This record gives sequence, C-alpha cells and structure tokens, in this order.
Amino acid sequence: MSRVLVIYFSVTGNTKALADAVVKGVTSVAGVECIPVTAAEVTNQDWVAADAIIVGSPTYFGQMAAEVKHVIDATAEIYGQLEGKVGAAFTTSGGAGCGHELTNMSIITALLVSGMVVPGTTHGPHFGPFAVGKPTAKDLERAEAMGIRIAQLTAKLFG
Ligand SMILES: Cc1cc2nc3c(=O)[nH]c(=O)nc-3n(C[C@H](O)[C@H](O)[C@H](O)COP(=O)(O)O)c2cc1C
Repeated sequence: MSRVLVIYFSVTGNTKALADAVVKGVTSVAGVECIPVTAAEVTNQDWVAADAIIVGSPTYFGQMAAEVKHVIDATAEIYGQLEGKVGAAFTTSGGAGCGHELTNMSIITALLVSGMVVPGTTHGPHFGPFAVGKPTAKDLERAEAMGIRIAQLTAKLFG
C-alpha cells in the first residue's frame, strides 16, 4: 500500500474544498492510502512516512501562506529524507492573474529543493490545480484528476 499525504491550510474554506477533491481522487485509486492533514496538524514524521506529498495553500501576497511555509521550513530537520518522493501543489486565490501560479510554483520549488519528483502535465493547469474564490465544479474535477494522477504514479513507483 503506498501512502499519499495531502497537507492543506484554509481559513475560509476554498482551499479545503479543493483539498477534499484531491483526496477524493487519491482515494479512488486502488492500493493507495490517502492521509489528509491540516498544516496545523502535520508532523515531519508524516512527511517521512509518505510516498507522495501534495501541498495546498491559499495565495497570500502572490505566494504560499506563511502557515504552509512554516510547515515546509520545519522539514529542514528531515532534509534528505524526502528524496525521490512524489510531490504536487494546489491553491486558491482571490483573483485571476493575482498569483495563483506563483503560489503553486513556490510550493513546487520547495519540493524540488527537497529532492522530490514533481510530475508535469499537458492537461489542465500545468503547475497544479487552482480556483479563484469558491471552487467551481470544473475546478473540483481538475483537482480530483490531479489526485488520481499523483496516486497512480505513486502506486507505480512505490506500490
Ligand atoms: C493575507 C491575505 C493575502 C491574500 N493575497 C492574495 C493575493 O496575493 N492574490 C490573490 O489572488 N488573492 C489573495 N488573497 C485571497 C485568498 O487567496 C483567497 O480568498 C483564498 O481562496 C482563501 O483561501 P481559503 O478559503 O482556503 O482560506 C489573500 C487573502 C489574504 C487573507
């Protein structure tokens, strides 16, 4: 059984809605266990125990929220132990063209620095699912599809 950790931070519920859709996608793939956890709850041990880590944050000032950066900074204590794990990002923002791609890229950059494998895609949002405000049905569909894609890759690599 391979393990996919979904870490998210959400104050007004938009990013949580997207996280729920990602979790739905991951859970639908056979042989993959999904562990959803908030930024406040997650521990470094959760990162180490996972084969894949998907991180979701609201866009704050064109980048990930401080609460999410704090969680990522804390992994300095386990630096080197995330090498080869699969990673992905998702976000919600208040406006279109107001930083959502930068947020996903800021998360992805941190995952790459930790040696993680971040798969791209030719379909849909290239840098990870996003929503402007409350996720639409299409946003949720894209987030679910990302969950499926990451879970399938994780099962292939670690199952
Ligand atoms: C401190 C703060 C900074 C924000 N900065 C941005 C921003 O730079 N660009 C943007 O599009 N939205 C920005 N927003 C809006 C949030 O990204 C948006 O409302 C998001 O969906 C909130 O996620 P949540 O419902 O999961 O808490 C900001 C909101 C807050 C509270």
